[in-house]
Amino acid sequence: MKKIIIDCDPGIDDSLAIMLALQSPELEVIGITIVAGNSPAELGFQNAKRVLNFLGRLDVPVYVGADRPRVREYVNALDTHGCDGLGESFLPEVPGQEIPEKSAVEFMRETLKGGDVSVIALGPLTNLADLIDADILAFLSIERLVSMGGNFRSHGNCSPVAEYNYWEDPDSAKVVFDTLYAHHKMIEMVGLDVTREIVLTPEKLEDIKARNAVVGDFIEKITKFYFKFHWEWEHIRGCVINDPLAVAQFICPNILDGIEAFTEVETGGISMGQTVVDSMGFYRKESNALVFTNVDVEAFWELFLTRILEIGEEK
Ligand code: RIB
Ligand code: CA
Repeated sequence: MKKIIIDCDPGIDDSLAIMLALQSPELEVIGITIVAGNSPAELGFQNAKRVLNFLGRLDVPVYVGADRPRVREYVNALDTHGCDGLGESFLPEVPGQEIPEKSAVEFMRETLKGGDVSVIALGPLTNLADLIDADILAFLSIERLVSMGGNFRSHGNCSPVAEYNYWEDPDSAKVVFDTLYAHHKMIEMVGLDVTREIVLTPEKLEDIKARNAVVGDFIEKITKFYFKFHWEWEHIRGCVINDPLAVAQFICPNILDGIEAFTEVETGGISMGQTVVDSMGFYRKESNALVFTNVDVEAFWELFLTRILEIGEEK
């Protein structure tokens, strides 16, 4: 089993990613850290607890990190994820779940030093930039860093060129990419080029409901708002579920393939948040990112559905 920390901003697709991770025997989720993103940090904490409660996994600790980006004003994505951050499913708050004293960065510092823990980042990279400030050795001890974020050839979803996680906090994203470059390390960047291929369609949702009514009902509850948003904004039937693909990539690296390239994040101006991927080597700089460009969509659904459908089944 591989030890992982899921750093996230739940969020509808973050929730599906947490479900996949906790249903995957290859992974030991040693903790979830919350970052302000889709939802404000406190709501993200409560939503993580809602998902863990549904899974019967309140044993997984949840820590809260940054409540705003490094420099910019905080811009949430509740217009996409609903006012409750979970698709206006309005699931009851889980009682007795206090936010721990220990912060996300303190938890990361404590657990990463052994060098056998990876991070799957599904939100803005604010907590990781804060970790670099607080304890760069802990950050450099991350075994694998897989981030849902950025885009290469695909258009943005917050501007023509920027994807939300890196647009919401471009300064933190830059710190992370630049630190990886300076220390000859890589990030596995699961960007919009591949996540846009992962669409939960009405037919797939009906199939899940038919095979596991409890899971299907939960997923329908948290995605119905997302379906409406996708149809209104991009005339997509269904919803793009970005974050589970980052978990799938961690478990099964041949689901995605792409290029190694030097990548830097723009922090200002019209292209703020853009990941500038030097695929042609113009800057003659060492690669710091594995940028994914192709996805085996069927292999993803095979992995995702087989595991999700087992929720609640006798082991
Ligand atoms: O741009 C998509 C990403 O931003 C996803 O991680 C979504 O949950 C939001 O955090
Ligand atoms: Ca997310």
